[in-house]
Amino acid sequence: MKCFEKHIFICENKRPPENPKGCCSDKGSSEIRELFKKRLHELGIKSKIRANSSGCLDACEFGPTIVVYPEQIWYGGVKLENVEEIIQSHLIGNKPVQRLLINHPNYNKDVKS
Ligand code: FES
Repeated sequence: MKCFEKHIFICENKRPPENPKGCCSDKGSSEIRELFKKRLHELGIKSKIRANSSGCLDACEFGPTIVVYPEQIWYGGVKLENVEEIIQSHLIGNKPVQRLLINHPNYNKDVKS
């Protein structure tokens, strides 16, 4: 069985438009996941780092929400133009992109700045 070094979960949960919680899907998370997958493939690291769709990560207000394991780094408000920086700095360079981290006491408790 293949063992990945890192796993990126990208919330693609979809809710009806009238739902006050909103959803990451309406904020472009599917395109973000596709770009992660494409770039990991192009960089030849898809066997080490996997990008997966996930259901609601219970951080809806910060969406699009992404979490990277095993280090449990939570990103919020991620845009397409942030994907390459997250890949280069965090996934390859092991330096999380500080300005994109969810800034809330429940997330990123162990992240050193
Ligand atoms: S809808 Fe994405 S975290 Fe809940």
